[in-house]
Amino acid sequence: KNIVILISGRGSNMEAVVRAAEMDAWPARIAAVISNKPEAKGLEFAQARGIPTAVVANKQYATRAEFDAALQETIDRFAPDLVVLAGFMRILTAPFVEHYAGRMLNIHPSLLPLFPGLGTHQGALDAGATEHGATVHFVTAELDHGPIVAQARVPVLPGDTEDTLSARVLVEEHKLYPHAVRLFIEDRLSIEHGEVRILHGA
Ligand code: GRF
Repeated sequence: KNIVILISGRGSNMEAVVRAAEMDAWPARIAAVISNKPEAKGLEFAQARGIPTAVVANKQYATRAEFDAALQETIDRFAPDLVVLAGFMRILTAPFVEHYAGRMLNIHPSLLPLFPGLGTHQGALDAGATEHGATVHFVTAELDHGPIVAQARVPVLPGDTEDTLSARVLVEEHKLYPHAVRLFIEDRLSIEHGEVRILHGA
Protein backbone atom coordinates (compact mmCIF):
# COMPACT_ATOMS: atom_id res chain seq x y z
CA LYS A 1 0.00 0.00 0.00
CA ASN A 2 1.13 3.55 -0.71
CA ILE A 3 1.10 6.16 2.02
CA VAL A 4 1.50 9.88 1.29
CA ILE A 5 2.25 12.05 4.32
CA LEU A 6 1.49 15.78 4.41
CA ILE A 7 3.42 18.08 6.73
CA SER A 8 3.85 21.80 7.39
CA GLY A 9 6.72 21.94 9.83
CA ARG A 10 8.78 19.87 12.22
CA GLY A 11 7.37 16.58 11.02
CA SER A 12 7.98 14.54 14.15
CA ASN A 13 4.78 12.55 13.65
CA MET A 14 5.75 11.85 10.04
CA GLU A 15 9.10 10.67 11.36
CA ALA A 16 7.41 8.35 13.84
CA VAL A 17 5.30 6.79 11.08
CA VAL A 18 8.29 6.41 8.75
CA ARG A 19 10.37 4.75 11.46
CA ALA A 20 7.56 2.38 12.46
CA ALA A 21 6.94 1.38 8.84
CA GLU A 22 10.61 0.51 8.46
CA MET A 23 11.15 -1.13 11.80
CA ASP A 24 8.07 -3.30 11.76
CA ALA A 25 8.29 -4.03 8.02
CA TRP A 26 4.78 -2.86 7.21
CA PRO A 27 3.24 -4.12 3.99
CA ALA A 28 3.29 -0.48 2.90
CA ARG A 29 5.68 2.15 1.75
CA ILE A 30 5.89 5.86 2.32
CA ALA A 31 5.44 6.95 -1.28
CA ALA A 32 6.03 10.65 -0.63
CA VAL A 33 6.19 13.41 1.94
CA ILE A 34 4.55 16.63 0.75
CA SER A 35 4.71 20.03 2.44
CA ASN A 36 2.84 23.27 1.89
CA LYS A 37 5.89 25.10 3.24
CA PRO A 38 9.25 24.91 1.46
CA GLU A 39 11.09 25.47 4.75
CA ALA A 40 9.40 22.61 6.63
CA LYS A 41 12.04 20.86 8.72
CA GLY A 42 10.55 17.44 8.14
CA LEU A 43 11.44 17.53 4.44
CA GLU A 44 15.12 17.06 5.34
CA PHE A 45 14.43 13.89 7.29
CA ALA A 46 12.40 12.45 4.41
CA GLN A 47 15.05 13.33 1.86
CA ALA A 48 17.76 11.79 3.99
CA ARG A 49 15.75 8.55 3.99
CA GLY A 50 15.38 8.60 0.23
CA ILE A 51 11.65 9.29 0.38
CA PRO A 52 10.39 11.41 -2.53
CA THR A 53 9.36 14.87 -1.38
CA ALA A 54 7.34 17.65 -2.97
CA VAL A 55 6.33 21.17 -2.02
CA VAL A 56 3.02 22.70 -2.98
CA ALA A 57 3.34 26.20 -1.51
CA ASN A 58 -0.06 27.53 -0.56
CA LYS A 59 1.33 31.06 -0.83
CA GLN A 60 1.55 30.65 -4.58
CA TYR A 61 -2.17 30.12 -5.00
CA ALA A 62 -4.77 32.86 -4.93
CA THR A 63 -7.54 30.71 -3.50
CA ARG A 64 -7.97 27.68 -1.30
CA ALA A 65 -9.68 25.86 -4.17
CA GLU A 66 -6.69 26.36 -6.50
CA PHE A 67 -4.25 25.29 -3.81
CA ASP A 68 -6.25 22.18 -2.99
CA ALA A 69 -6.51 21.27 -6.68
CA ALA A 70 -2.74 21.54 -7.10
CA LEU A 71 -2.15 19.62 -3.89
CA GLN A 72 -4.52 16.86 -4.97
CA GLU A 73 -2.78 16.54 -8.31
CA THR A 74 0.61 16.23 -6.61
CA ILE A 75 -0.65 13.70 -4.05
CA ASP A 76 -2.34 11.57 -6.70
CA ARG A 77 0.86 11.25 -8.70
CA PHE A 78 1.94 8.91 -5.92
CA ALA A 79 -1.23 6.81 -6.13
CA PRO A 80 -1.94 6.83 -2.39
CA ASP A 81 -4.08 4.27 -0.62
CA LEU A 82 -3.85 6.47 2.44
CA VAL A 83 -3.13 10.16 3.01
CA VAL A 84 -1.70 10.94 6.45
CA LEU A 85 -1.94 14.51 7.75
CA ALA A 86 0.91 15.02 10.20
CA GLY A 87 0.97 18.57 11.48
CA PHE A 88 -0.45 19.77 8.19
CA MET A 89 -1.69 23.23 9.06
CA ARG A 90 -4.16 24.02 6.29
CA ILE A 91 -7.91 23.90 6.32
CA LEU A 92 -9.01 21.76 3.40
CA THR A 93 -11.92 22.38 1.04
CA ALA A 94 -14.87 20.01 0.88
CA PRO A 95 -14.10 18.66 -2.63
CA PHE A 96 -10.56 17.80 -1.55
CA VAL A 97 -11.76 16.05 1.60
CA GLU A 98 -14.42 14.20 -0.41
CA HIS A 99 -11.82 12.97 -2.86
CA TYR A 100 -9.96 11.23 -0.02
CA ALA A 101 -13.03 10.16 1.94
CA GLY A 102 -12.27 7.08 4.04
CA ARG A 103 -8.57 7.22 3.20
CA MET A 104 -7.28 10.32 4.92
CA LEU A 105 -6.26 10.45 8.59
CA ASN A 106 -5.30 13.36 10.84
CA ILE A 107 -3.77 13.60 14.29
CA HIS A 108 -5.08 16.29 16.59
CA PRO A 109 -3.51 17.18 19.95
CA SER A 110 -6.58 16.93 22.16
CA LEU A 111 -9.14 14.40 23.28
CA LEU A 112 -11.70 15.23 20.60
CA PRO A 113 -14.46 16.33 20.67
CA LEU A 114 -12.78 18.52 23.29
CA PHE A 115 -10.67 21.42 21.98
CA PRO A 116 -10.92 21.31 18.20
CA GLY A 117 -8.86 23.89 16.29
CA LEU A 118 -5.68 25.60 17.46
CA GLY A 119 -4.39 26.24 20.99
CA THR A 120 -5.46 22.88 22.37
CA HIS A 121 -2.89 22.61 25.18
CA GLN A 122 -3.55 26.09 26.54
CA GLY A 123 -7.24 25.38 26.15
CA ALA A 124 -6.98 22.28 28.30
CA LEU A 125 -5.00 24.18 30.94
CA ASP A 126 -7.42 27.10 30.98
CA ALA A 127 -10.36 24.74 31.31
CA GLY A 128 -8.74 23.08 34.33
CA ALA A 129 -8.77 19.69 32.59
CA THR A 130 -7.20 16.89 34.60
CA GLU A 131 -6.71 14.80 31.50
CA HIS A 132 -5.59 15.65 27.98
CA GLY A 133 -4.24 13.80 24.98
CA ALA A 134 -4.35 13.22 21.26
CA THR A 135 -6.79 11.82 18.72
CA VAL A 136 -6.37 10.17 15.34
CA HIS A 137 -9.47 10.55 13.20
CA PHE A 138 -10.65 10.22 9.63
CA VAL A 139 -10.83 13.59 7.95
CA THR A 140 -14.26 14.92 7.07
CA ALA A 141 -15.29 18.37 5.86
CA GLU A 142 -15.94 19.66 9.37
CA LEU A 143 -12.59 20.54 10.97
CA ASP A 144 -11.42 18.05 13.63
CA HIS A 145 -14.76 16.21 13.65
CA GLY A 146 -14.29 13.00 11.65
CA PRO A 147 -14.79 9.45 12.97
CA ILE A 148 -12.28 8.71 15.74
CA VAL A 149 -9.81 5.86 15.22
CA ALA A 150 -7.81 6.02 18.44
CA GLN A 151 -6.95 8.27 21.36
CA ALA A 152 -4.09 8.53 23.83
CA ARG A 153 -4.50 10.06 27.26
CA VAL A 154 -2.07 11.86 29.53
CA PRO A 155 -2.61 13.45 32.93
CA VAL A 156 -2.47 17.22 33.34
CA LEU A 157 -0.07 17.76 36.24
CA PRO A 158 0.13 20.61 38.73
CA GLY A 159 2.46 23.31 37.42
CA ASP A 160 2.05 22.22 33.80
CA THR A 161 2.66 24.85 31.14
CA GLU A 162 1.74 24.72 27.48
CA ASP A 163 5.29 23.45 26.84
CA THR A 164 5.36 20.65 29.40
CA LEU A 165 1.87 19.51 28.53
CA SER A 166 2.41 19.53 24.77
CA ALA A 167 5.66 17.60 25.20
CA ARG A 168 3.86 14.93 27.24
CA VAL A 169 1.16 14.65 24.59
CA LEU A 170 3.70 14.53 21.75
CA VAL A 171 5.39 11.46 23.21
CA GLU A 172 2.03 9.70 23.02
CA GLU A 173 1.31 11.01 19.52
CA HIS A 174 4.45 9.30 18.29
CA LYS A 175 3.08 5.93 19.43
CA LEU A 176 -0.56 6.57 18.63
CA TYR A 177 -0.16 7.63 15.01
CA PRO A 178 1.92 4.65 13.84
CA HIS A 179 -0.56 2.38 15.64
CA ALA A 180 -3.55 3.95 13.89
CA VAL A 181 -1.91 4.02 10.47
CA ARG A 182 -1.00 0.39 10.83
CA LEU A 183 -4.63 -0.53 11.59
CA PHE A 184 -5.60 1.15 8.33
CA ILE A 185 -2.84 -0.58 6.38
CA GLU A 186 -3.99 -3.93 7.71
CA ASP A 187 -7.55 -3.19 6.53
CA ARG A 188 -8.78 -3.34 10.09
CA LEU A 189 -10.74 -0.08 10.09
CA SER A 190 -14.26 0.28 8.85
CA ILE A 191 -16.58 3.23 9.21
CA GLU A 192 -20.14 2.34 10.09
CA HIS A 193 -22.80 5.00 10.71
CA GLY A 194 -20.05 7.59 11.15
CA GLU A 195 -18.15 5.55 13.71
CA VAL A 196 -14.95 3.59 13.35
CA ARG A 197 -15.06 -0.11 14.00
CA ILE A 198 -11.73 -1.85 14.60
CA LEU A 199 -11.70 -5.37 13.22
CA HIS A 200 -9.66 -7.97 15.00
CA GLY A 201 -6.53 -9.24 13.34
CA ALA A 202 -6.30 -12.77 11.99
C1 GRF B 1 1.30 17.76 16.54
O1 GRF B 1 1.07 18.08 17.87
C2 GRF B 1 0.00 17.40 15.85
O2 GRF B 1 -0.90 16.73 16.69
C3 GRF B 1 -0.54 18.75 15.50
O3 GRF B 1 0.57 19.52 15.13
C4 GRF B 1 1.75 18.98 15.75
C5 GRF B 1 2.68 18.63 14.64
O4 GRF B 1 3.95 18.23 15.08
N1 GRF B 1 -1.54 18.61 14.47
P1 GRF B 1 4.94 17.51 14.09
O5 GRF B 1 5.08 18.40 12.85
O6 GRF B 1 4.37 16.18 13.74
O7 GRF B 1 6.23 17.42 14.82
